[in-house]
Amino acid sequence: MTKNYPQSVRIVEVSPRDGLQNIKTEIPTETKLELINKLCDAGISDLEVASFVSPKWVPQMADAADILRQLKPHPTTNYTVLTPNLKGFERALECGVKEVAVFTAASEAFTQKNINCTIDESLQRIEAIMQPALDNNIRVRGYVSCVLGCPYDGHIDASEVARVTKALIELGCYEVSLGDTIGIGTPLKAQAMAKTVLETVPADKLALHFHDTRGQALANLFACLELGIATIDASVAGLGGCPYAKGASGNVSTEDVVYMLHGMGIKTGIDLDKLALAGHYITQQLGCQNNSRIGAVLCTE
Ligand code: HMG
Ligand code: MG
Repeated sequence: MTKNYPQSVRIVEVSPRDGLQNIKTEIPTETKLELINKLCDAGISDLEVASFVSPKWVPQMADAADILRQLKPHPTTNYTVLTPNLKGFERALECGVKEVAVFTAASEAFTQKNINCTIDESLQRIEAIMQPALDNNIRVRGYVSCVLGCPYDGHIDASEVARVTKALIELGCYEVSLGDTIGIGTPLKAQAMAKTVLETVPADKLALHFHDTRGQALANLFACLELGIATIDASVAGLGGCPYAKGASGNVSTEDVVYMLHGMGIKTGIDLDKLALAGHYITQQLGCQNNSRIGAVLCTE
């Protein structure tokens, strides 16, 4: 089979949301804003800055509106926020967002734990967001979690991933990001799952969102890149994890992804040195380990 690597890849940076949502200590809003500014400065074009979920469920995201209010529009960075339902969407709308991300999963048990409803109910909640989004000219991105396995249900059929992905596209999502929420996949399984999804949804409407719990995320991305999928979600310093996915650790680190892509001659528009500084900044602030190999190397050179 001919390998169809993209010439450029769009990175969706999720660290201010996915990277920070699971951190138990309070992070000042100013620190989050400084991280966001550093990521913009590094050339990140798409940045998920917060989530409008229930603050009782995810206290770390309680300052989402403050972040949005204080954030200056950036000429080259598109900000997006995660919203689980109409209430979250309306809170985001009040803050003047131009894009939201909605989320569901290919696992019933995970959907219950994460958002307290069934997959079909989550799709109905998303449907309720679509008309107001259209009326307000707001783009909607979708996520499907547990595409390579679930912490509660175990095996997940790729056909179910394809069904939910197609449903999100039909509801009006411009793109769907495929989440290996617990970083359980391996390259050939990731590729097989992506091939099944590609039978119903084209590559230019798909993104890859792989957590790195078992150190497989880069290999899994590499395996899917040759299928022509050219959007990758990542988190600087490899921060991240979902509070409702037992054992889920960080996302793949943006620094490592960018290093790999640039090494393959694939453009990202990102300045790797500045990106590493952003990763260094947030790990220093949090007093945590930098999970990016490349970030750690660049910051000690
Ligand atoms: P619920 O308790 O079933 O909701 O939670 P409810 O409709 O019964 O409402 C209960 C209370 O929450 C009410 O307030 C609502 O007003 C309030 P009360 O009357 O008790 O004062 N409420 C809200 N408040 C603020 N913002 C909202 C909102 N909605 C209701 N949007 C809900 C349902 C979805 C809200 C809850 O389950 C929730 O917030 N879950 C958060 C899940 C989450 O953030 N998970 C992490 C992100 S997903 C992820 O990380 C995966 C991803 O990265 C991809 C991957 O890796 O696979 C995207
Ligand atoms: Mg995630």
